[in-house]
Amino acid sequence: MEWEFPPAWKKLAEEISSQDWRIMLVGGVDCGKTTYAQYILKILLEKKEEVAYINADVGQAILGPPATLSMSFLKRFPSQLETVLPDYQWFIGSNSPSGFFTEVILGVHSLVQVLEEKGNPPAVMDTSGLIKGEEGKRLKYMKSLVFQPDLVVILEREDEMEEIYSLLLNGGFRVEKLRVGDFVKVKTRQDRINFRREKFKRYFEGSEVNEFSLKGLGFVSHTKVIQRGQLVGLLEEKGFLLGLGLWMGVENGKVKIFTPLKNFDDLKIIWVGRLIIDPETGEEK
Ligand SMILES: Nc1ncnc2c1ncn2[C@@H]1O[C@H](COP(=O)(O)OP(=O)(O)OP(=O)(O)O)[C@@H](O)[C@H]1O
Ligand SMILES: [Mg+2]
Repeated sequence: MEWEFPPAWKKLAEEISSQDWRIMLVGGVDCGKTTYAQYILKILLEKKEEVAYINADVGQAILGPPATLSMSFLKRFPSQLETVLPDYQWFIGSNSPSGFFTEVILGVHSLVQVLEEKGNPPAVMDTSGLIKGEEGKRLKYMKSLVFQPDLVVILEREDEMEEIYSLLLNGGFRVEKLRVGDFVKVKTRQDRINFRREKFKRYFEGSEVNEFSLKGLGFVSHTKVIQRGQLVGLLEEKGFLLGLGLWMGVENGKVKIFTPLKNFDDLKIIWVGRLIIDPETGEEK
């Protein structure tokens, strides 16, 4: 894919590449956040030994499957970031952060803890396009508070980011604004649904139904009644995601979960999310 960036975008990426910063990209839907995040990653990796790439967008996640947050430590720029396996994953269980702010903020917090344990390499965090209203402001402000970016890059079409800009400046963050141009293509709602369907389909390929006794495991559910196909996070003891699964029901006191995960040694908690997925097609119901 050919990228095209205005001079201001390139200049900022150059400045970023000579620092060891934590960068957070913020903007509405279809502003080029994910593409610019990859460009920054590429420029950084020309100079740095290792860069962390963090996907904090549960909808159009380039890294990892939808409904999760993820982080990878990269040493060279991959030809296809979408095929890179995340080093750390956090389960959200929804394709939108709405109603899941606690999970999202806790997830970013947990990924930041890992980043710190690894000696704080430069890090680039891509975020969701949820920027509207009080919900958007709350989410972006809280994400910044847990991520503590050295720089927030705001991608703006018109003046839709003004309030978030002011909020983040008042939060003491350095913020740079870039103007989005025609080089960013707009996706339809159907494009977004198809993107997630393909990612889920690929993720669950080669899955098998496994049975789990809940004795000795922790269990949490987002809903009281659990439906067939409901998305499940299989978590280790710190709360990180080992693998996704789909709820297949209960039989003889055992929970049946369809998952590509093969090794359950570290499994401690089964966390049921909100999304319901068709195991064959990856379609959301
Ligand atoms: N600099 C660029 N040069 C060429 N194409 C671009 C550029 N930036 C974005 N695009 C194209 O525009 C579309 C939207 O870009 P992108 O996915 O990066 O935006 P986004 O803000 O991350 O969107 P979302 O809201 O879905 O997360 C994509 O098809 C991408 O390939
Ligand atoms: Mg994106």
